[in-house]
Amino acid sequence: MRLLNKILITGVLLGFTLSLTAQEWTAPADQKDKTCPLPFDTKMQQSGKDIFNKNCKSCHGEVGKNNPVPLSPDPGDPAAEKFSVNTDGELFYKITMGKGAMPKFKDMLSENDRWAIISYIRTFHPDYKPANGDVIAPTEDNTFKGDNVKLFVDLDQVNLTATVNVQGDENGETKPANGVRVGFFIKRNFGLLPVCDPVTTNDKGIAIATFPGDLPGDSIGNYKMIIKLIDSDVFGEVEYTQNINWGKKFIYENPLDHREMWGNRSNAPLWLLITYFTLLLGGLAVIGWVVLQIMKLKKS
Ligand code: HEC
Repeated sequence: MRLLNKILITGVLLGFTLSLTAQEWTAPADQKDKTCPLPFDTKMQQSGKDIFNKNCKSCHGEVGKNNPVPLSPDPGDPAAEKFSVNTDGELFYKITMGKGAMPKFKDMLSENDRWAIISYIRTFHPDYKPANGDVIAPTEDNTFKGDNVKLFVDLDQVNLTATVNVQGDENGETKPANGVRVGFFIKRNFGLLPVCDPVTTNDKGIAIATFPGDLPGDSIGNYKMIIKLIDSDVFGEVEYTQNINWGKKFIYENPLDHREMWGNRSNAPLWLLITYFTLLLGGLAVIGWVVLQIMKLKKS
């Protein structure tokens, strides 16, 4: 009995110390040197930002704002040292496998998506040296940091192209807003239909998209085009809307307009009408005949 107690107590103590030392999460050594097959670039970092905000922000908070959800162990802000001391391979391993409250993303995100997140997180690590050489450094310095942006839209009616020029205020000056993502949509009954992937503005603040010619419009081919900035958390809702005749004529056909089984009144199928009236007239004739017979009875 005593021995059992001792074993139990040692077990509990051991478990306790183990859980204390288990604070550090280390990836297996053979995962350390794994690197992304593609060089990180701004496009990848942008999509990494979206994927992060959808899948990770709920626990890790906004990167760089140090506002992770208080869990145990602490998820940590990906901008912090807790993350930056990891090699790319270690980050990849941890995101892939998860641990405790940190979900396993192996089956939830593709490898590319996991690498995109890492490329985004790395933009917050000033000492990060890309493992695979010719990585395009985050263009932090010349990206537009102002606000109050405006959209100027030029529509090419022949090629169905929308050229968007985004200009904003930075330190009291009007400047082209580069690195801003612009979404192109058409309005449908239930929400917005994206026409293409979001386009990032270039150094001149310009983003161009071509609308497909076969999008259904209304009966004369009109639809409502909506062009807006995707990073609305930074710039607020900046939107351009325009009714335009770039769609295909779409004539709504009412299924009740044809002679069909489900048609009503004059559109009922002929055979049904004939059957119906034959039966109706037949019925009336029988009643009439019966009445006639009864009248004959009285007379006699
Ligand atoms: C449900 C909450 C939750 C979500 C969602 C979540 N994490 Fe975590 N994450 C945690 C917690 C808790 C830890 C700490 C785990 C530990 O140290 O045992 C953690 C740890 C990590 C670590 C390890 C940091 C270190 O100690 O080296 C990385 C990397 C990480 N998360 C990345 C991500 C990424 C990327 C996503 C989104 C794809 C994500 N996490 C989504 C809760 C979460």
